[in-house]
Amino acid sequence: MDLPFAENYKIKMVEPIYQSTRKQREKWIDEAHYNLFNLRSDQVFIDLLTDSGTGAMSDRQWGALMTGDESYAGSSSFHHLKDKVKEIFGFDYFLPVHQGRAAENVLFSVLVKEGQVVPGNSHFDTTKGHIEFRKAKAIDCTIDEAFDTNGGHPFKGNIDIEKLTNVLESHTKEQIPLIIVTLTCNSSGGQPVSMKNIKQIRAAADQYGIPVIFDSARFAENAWFIQNREEGYANKSIREIVAEMYQYADGMTMSSKKDGIVNIGGILAMRNENWYKQAMVFNIMYEGFNTYGGMAGRDMNALAVGLDEVTNGDYLENRIRQVHYLGNQLIDAGIPVQKPLGGHAVFVDAKSFLPRIPKEEYVAQTLAIELYLEAGVRGVEVGTLLADRDPETKQNRYPKLEFLRLAIPRRTYTNNHMDVVATGLMNIFERRNSIQSGFQIVEEAPIMRHFTVKLKQK
Ligand code: F0G
Repeated sequence: MDLPFAENYKIKMVEPIYQSTRKQREKWIDEAHYNLFNLRSDQVFIDLLTDSGTGAMSDRQWGALMTGDESYAGSSSFHHLKDKVKEIFGFDYFLPVHQGRAAENVLFSVLVKEGQVVPGNSHFDTTKGHIEFRKAKAIDCTIDEAFDTNGGHPFKGNIDIEKLTNVLESHTKEQIPLIIVTLTCNSSGGQPVSMKNIKQIRAAADQYGIPVIFDSARFAENAWFIQNREEGYANKSIREIVAEMYQYADGMTMSSKKDGIVNIGGILAMRNENWYKQAMVFNIMYEGFNTYGGMAGRDMNALAVGLDEVTNGDYLENRIRQVHYLGNQLIDAGIPVQKPLGGHAVFVDAKSFLPRIPKEEYVAQTLAIELYLEAGVRGVEVGTLLADRDPETKQNRYPKLEFLRLAIPRRTYTNNHMDVVATGLMNIFERRNSIQSGFQIVEEAPIMRHFTVKLKQK
C-alpha cells in the first residue's frame, strides 16, 4: 500500500483557538453589522479570511529574527534581503516597503498619472484602488475562460492577448504607463499565468514600448502551476522557473505576507535606475529610509529566509496539496467552486450555490455569513461589495462572478480543520434552498468599502 501524504513539518509551538456556539455567533455577527472584518479573532474558530500575513514562520525564520540588524542606515539585513531579491528575481534595484499596497503606492507615484490606463489580469483591489486614486483606469484583460467556473482552463490567470493588444493599439504610449500581471491572479481564484502567456505579454509590450510589472504576491505558487501544468517545465526547479518568469518583467511589487511567509513586509524591485531614483524619494516620504523602508531589520532577515523556503524543497507541494484537499472535498460534494482549483484558496461560486438570492442582496457575503454561523469559519466575500461602485456613475459594479473565498494560511491549520470547513459548507449546501434573502448596505466608505461596510438583513 502507498503511504499516505503527510505534512513535511512538525509543530513546535501552538496557539489555542476556541469553538463557539451558534447562539454566540448570531450575537457577534449582528454586533459586527454583518461584516466579517469587524469580528474579533477570538470570535472565529478557523480563520480563512486571508492567507496574507497569517502564515506560520519556520524555526529558521524565527532564528533569523534574532540576528536582525536594526541600524537606521546600511543595515546588514537590508543587504541580505537585497541579495536574495537579486538571486531569485534578478533585479538590481530594491526598496523594502511595509506591504504590497505600499509598493504599489511608491511605484505608481512615479509612473501613473491622471487619465492613463493600466491593463492587467483582474487587478487586485488595492492595485485598482491605487490606480483609480490617481484618476487613472485599470482595464481588465483576463481571458474569458476565467469567468466560467466549470471550464477547466489550466491557466485562468492569463491575459487575453487580443484584449491587451486592443488596449495598446487604441491608446498612445504616453497613456499606458505599465501593464500589470498578477501572479497568481487572486481575483479570478488564485489562478496561474502560464509562461507562454508571460512571453506573449512581453512581446506585445515590447511592440508598443510599454513596461511590464509583476504583482508578485504569490509568485512561487504560480511557478508551481507552471511546473505541474505547462508542457516542458516538469523537470525544471521552482527557482529556474521563477528566474525565467522574471526575465520578462521590468519590475515587481510584492506583498511579502503571502509567498514571503512573513507576517508583514513588501518588496519593490526594478531594473530601471531612473525609476529607482524617483521611487526612493517617495519611499523615504511614505515608508522610511531606503535601507529599511517599512520593515524592521529582523523582518527583512525573516523574509530572506522565507523566500528561500518558498522556492526550495517540498514546501509548495505541501501547501497546494492542502488547498486542494479542501477543494476536492467540496467538488466531491457537488459544491460549485472555481475549477481547476487555484493556489492559495478555494473560491466557492456563490451565485450557483445560492441561486435564490438576487445580486442586489450581496450573494457571496450572504454565504460568508452563513458559513460563519454554521461553523465559526471566517471566509471573505470576493464579489459586489469588493467591486465597489463605479467611480463615475456611483452605481454598484456587479462582477461576473460572486465568490466566497476560503484562503488557507500557510503552515497554520491541519487537514482536520479543513474537514470542519468542508462539513460546514456541505451542511449549508443541503439546506441552500431555505436561504431566500440576503443583505442591504446601511453605511459604506467611498472606496474599498468592503473593509468597513455595515449591513443589515434584507
Ligand atoms: N496584490 C495581490 C495580488 C494581493 O492579493 C494583495 C493582498 C496585494 C497586492 C496587496 O498586498 O495586503 O500586503 O498590501 N491581498 C490580501 C488578500 C489582502 O487577502 O488577498 P498587501
